[in-house]
Order: sequence, then C-alpha cells, then structure tokens
Amino acid sequence: MNLLDKINTSRDFIKERINIKPDIGMILGSGLGPLAEEIEEDIRIKYSDIPNFPVSTVKGHKGQLVIGKLNGKNVIAMQGRFHYYEGYTLEEVTFPVRVMKALGVSKIIVTNAAGGANESFEPGDLMLIEDHINFAFDNPLIGKNHDELGPRFPDMSNAYSNELIEIGRKSAKNIGIKLKEGTYMFMPGPSYETPSEVKMARFLGGDAVGMSTVPEVIVANHGNIDVLGISCITNMASGILEQPLDHKEVIETSERVREQFIKLVREIVKNI
Ligand code: HPA
Repeated sequence: MNLLDKINTSRDFIKERINIKPDIGMILGSGLGPLAEEIEEDIRIKYSDIPNFPVSTVKGHKGQLVIGKLNGKNVIAMQGRFHYYEGYTLEEVTFPVRVMKALGVSKIIVTNAAGGANESFEPGDLMLIEDHINFAFDNPLIGKNHDELGPRFPDMSNAYSNELIEIGRKSAKNIGIKLKEGTYMFMPGPSYETPSEVKMARFLGGDAVGMSTVPEVIVANHGNIDVLGISCITNMASGILEQPLDHKEVIETSERVREQFIKLVREIVKNI
C-alpha cells in the first residue's frame, strides 16, 4: 500500500469512531500524557487498533489517540509518541501527523523533554521552541514526494509559527509563567550526548537538545500545519553540571512541572 492509501485507511478508521472534526493536534511528550485526561467528551483509540499505525515494541506501551474537547476546542491528542531511537523509520514516526492532517487538523502543539544546553537555563524551565536544528541527518520526507501531501522542497523558514509563538508568550504571561525561548536541536539518541557534543550544540546555536519533535515538525510543515513547540528542560545537558545524566531526573523534573506545563498548554489552546 502506498503512503496515501495508508493515511486514508487510518483516517477513515478514526473518522468512523468520532463525531467532531479535530482542529488542534497535540503530541504529548514525556510527563505530559496526563493532559489528555482533561479532554472532555473523549473518544480513545489505541494505536494498536488503528490500521497502519506503527506497532509498538514496548511491552505495556500505553499509546492512544484521545479525541474530544479541551477548553471548548476540538482536539486530537497523541498520548505517547514514536521515537526514532526505538528503531522506527521517520516515515513511521511521523505517520500520525499525516493522519491528523487528513482528519482536518490545521495546528499542532508539540511538547517534549529536553536537556538544557543554554547555561542560563535551569531544570524545570519551559522553553518555547523558536526554531530547530536537525542533527540526526535523516529526514522524513526522503523518498517519493506525494504532491497531494505537500511540496517536494517545503519552506522551513517559519517552521514554528510566529503567530503561535506570540500566542504562547501571551498565554504564559496571562497565567504568570516565565518562559524561555530558544532553538531545539534534534539528537538521534538513545545515548545522551557527550559534554563535547553539548558544547558543539551550544556553539551551533542549540539551546536545548532532545530526541524527538523535529521529524513531526518537518512533516507538519510539509502539510502546511502551523506548529507550536514547547520543551520542558528536565536536566542540564551533559557536561554542564558535575553529575552524570540519569533518566530518573528527566522523569522527576517533568513530574515536578507537569501541573504548570498543563496549565500553559490549556491556556494556549484557549487562546488559539
Ligand atoms: N539530551 C537528549 N534528550 C533529552 C535530554 C538530554 O539531556 N533530556 C531529556 N531528553
């Protein structure tokens, strides 16, 4: 089956199960899954039930789409995402974004956990993503271009919509949250960076390093979807503090700021 047929089959499967047209897509990264619990009149569809969705190799993996209303807006949220480092191709990683687009989504909010490369950041900071650097040297658009989905050479000069960034800033102000802003650098992982790689990231203009988001954002731009990205700085990136990196810190920090993060995303959805 070619990509277009795959997308349409998945879209039809989901469409039969919902009675709203989702406008805003949300990809909920580490720690932010509970936001999906706040979606009302929700329909939940397990990834494993959706034809053509990537098959999770992780035991007990709780991946699902949650479709419903958040602050009065029609949303579709991914509770759990597919990572490049898990061995999926970037076409697989980004397939759900294609399906969201086919369902009518015009804006996407993407969230993640990231390491702070900018030394003025602190664990627990939330960073509005202004731009990204694709340091994985792979691209989900490599291969045949389907003109129905987007152009062969999509523009990436406003990859993170200026208009949505402004809404992000205003929303944070409304609820009294101080936001950082910066460039997210996509590292393939799954090993954390070395101190030298983090120095390089900083030297090249990266403020945060992480292992997700960029493939989805490239495909969203290909499909003319406006993107808003937010990173939770869960730890200082390698070499900045004299301590080893530990996934436990990532989990602990994302849990510590979860409430604030959820409040911010809710406010943004309200203002979109
Ligand atoms: N590096 C890469 N990805 C991450 C990090 C990090 O330090 N923290 C959370 N995700």
